[in-house]
Amino acid sequence: MKNIKAIIFDAYGTLFDVNSAAQKCKNKIGDKWEAFANYWRTNQLEYTWLRSLMNRHKDFWQITEDSLDKSMKAFNIDTSMKNELLDLYKILSPFEEVSKVLKDLKNENLKLAILSNGSPSLLKELVESNNLENIFDDLFSIEEVGIYKPDSKVYDLPIKKYQIQKNEVAFLSANTWDVSGGGNYGFNSIWVNRNNNIFDNLDFKPEYEIKSLVELKNIIKRD
Ligand code: LAC
Repeated sequence: MKNIKAIIFDAYGTLFDVNSAAQKCKNKIGDKWEAFANYWRTNQLEYTWLRSLMNRHKDFWQITEDSLDKSMKAFNIDTSMKNELLDLYKILSPFEEVSKVLKDLKNENLKLAILSNGSPSLLKELVESNNLENIFDDLFSIEEVGIYKPDSKVYDLPIKKYQIQKNEVAFLSANTWDVSGGGNYGFNSIWVNRNNNIFDNLDFKPEYEIKSLVELKNIIKRD
């Protein structure tokens, strides 16, 4: 990948494991914890898209809580667990390699940023709780534009702030639809495919697919 000036990361699911909140409660939730976590995530994302289409914005924290309420009902999970799950969602664990890779990248002469659906205070807490606050130049939140990914106004945020071209951005997401969104916008989109998933049919295929962020350095250096 040539002439990259900024590496922009999606947050939830890409740097931070969205299943880790439910996983930490698996003794209480039981074997269904993973199905429950996936259902919660799916509903959370659907709410972002539906609210954007309905023009009824609520911030990501509210959506996370609303989708949790539905998911707890669907999986018969006692409401007494709600606050514990929400508190854990604020401090989701990063994937194993993330801290080291980010710290190494910090030495390259590139902008490093998060571009996420998360609200600003949520992103700040997430990054700080994982000791990553000195890594990023910016934590871009969709709250600045009041509409969720994959609206192009979201992907515009780093372009406007850094005054760079779309093709000077390497955009990484584990969320296939976000890879398509960023790629369709004009970013060099890289799919972080940790679990051997299948890509979407949304008229965009990423040039690069990696299993972990460790592979990123080779891609950026290639010219
Ligand atoms: C985010 C969602 C897509 O962090 O996970 O923007």
